[in-house]
Amino acid sequence: MTKPTWLANPWKQNPWFESVAVAQRRARTRLPAPVYAALLAGSERGQTVAENELAFRELGLAPHVAGNPPVRELATTLMGQEIALPVVISPTGVQAVHPQGEVAVARAAAARGTLMGLSNFASKPVEEVVAANPRTLFQMYWTGDRDVMVERMERARAAGAIGLIATLDWSFSIGRDWGSPEIPEKVDLRTMLRMAPEVARKPRWLATFARSGRLPDLTAPNLARPGQPAPGFFGAYYEWMNTPPPTWDDVAWMRQQWGGPFMLKGVCRVDDARRAVDAGVTAISVSNHGGNNLDGTPAAIRMLKPVVDAVGEQVEVVMDGGIRRGSDVVKALCLGARAVLIGRAYLWGLAANGQAGVENVLDIMRMGIDSALLGMGVASVRDLRPEHLLVPDDFHRVLGAGREISPGAPSSLAAGS
Ligand SMILES: Cc1cc2nc3c(=O)[nH]c(=O)nc-3n(C[C@H](O)[C@H](O)[C@H](O)COP(=O)(O)O)c2cc1C
Repeated sequence: MTKPTWLANPWKQNPWFESVAVAQRRARTRLPAPVYAALLAGSERGQTVAENELAFRELGLAPHVAGNPPVRELATTLMGQEIALPVVISPTGVQAVHPQGEVAVARAAAARGTLMGLSNFASKPVEEVVAANPRTLFQMYWTGDRDVMVERMERARAAGAIGLIATLDWSFSIGRDWGSPEIPEKVDLRTMLRMAPEVARKPRWLATFARSGRLPDLTAPNLARPGQPAPGFFGAYYEWMNTPPPTWDDVAWMRQQWGGPFMLKGVCRVDDARRAVDAGVTAISVSNHGGNNLDGTPAAIRMLKPVVDAVGEQVEVVMDGGIRRGSDVVKALCLGARAVLIGRAYLWGLAANGQAGVENVLDIMRMGIDSALLGMGVASVRDLRPEHLLVPDDFHRVLGAGREISPGAPSSLAAGS
């Protein structure tokens, strides 16, 4: 008779975790402090990153006790793709978290029937990621000149990416009140020795990389010019900082160059959402970049409904920011999102347990959505409506509906005038 595993090693931790918060605690224990801090991210005072999560607490659910549906439908469609649950992987640069990085995330998303968003600052080439999940959306910032951008789009298209995400909400803010982690230019022996005290305290993280036979990769292979080596993080960031910010004509140009399904990520304002529709986008993500852009931007969930009310009949609207459980997903769907994107939630899963950890997070989302639907007496994610939620009167934040100033406008003119 074989011994149960807990008897063989009663101290071995069960790798399964029951919530994203538990995954985050494990990630914190496992990762060297600077790597953990890089995922925590946030900007300036950290107000927006905190608000993204806190705002969900203000939304209430109203459970039924009988007549609830015995089976619930979680599948839906996004950008022309069937997805098994209304949760999609948001693009993030995850360089030093796990040796398989984005490939592990892509495999987990494929295993759970959903789409993979791949950052152009990612550590794995788009070809490898599409091989792991053929339903990959390639994300681009507005960086480099138009020829370079076309080159990058063509590469992603040739690799088989099925859609493009344009992320334009970035304002190069510097300075966090809690201090930023050190990001080395590259991880070589010298850096390893210098960072040894931090790293030596995390033997499990070190062992994962040792087993894979590689050091954490801090290059951005999807930003490499043909035949040239991949730029390092700072080289890539320098190019980005030195690219003039895009105009709405540039957005329309990018959309046209790509041709296929196109999401504009980072929309907060109603006026921008309308311009995005004019530029021809397929979908919008209401997002504040997970609180990493302009601190003081309201929580993404507060800005969702006003954007849905303005453009929801013309384009698909999703949101991202602060999603940590299935009931958060359900709340976003009640307020009009077709699906949500998740960022840190899967990064904590990846750090805690690689591909299986990301699958674990997607399972937590699936079970949480299902149990919320059961309790609320709703048979399908497509049937969720604002009336299913308890929403405080002052919950929503309407940005860009005439009170704020447009870019470039004389300060005496309000937006829309
Ligand atoms: C560490 C980190 C790196 C990120 N990198 C990118 C990126 O390269 N491209 C992008 O569009 N968004 C990036 N984001 C933003 C996410 O795609 C997403 O908008 C955000 O994480 C959602 O908030 P959440 O983490 O609360 O789910 C990043 C977020 C984090 C936390």
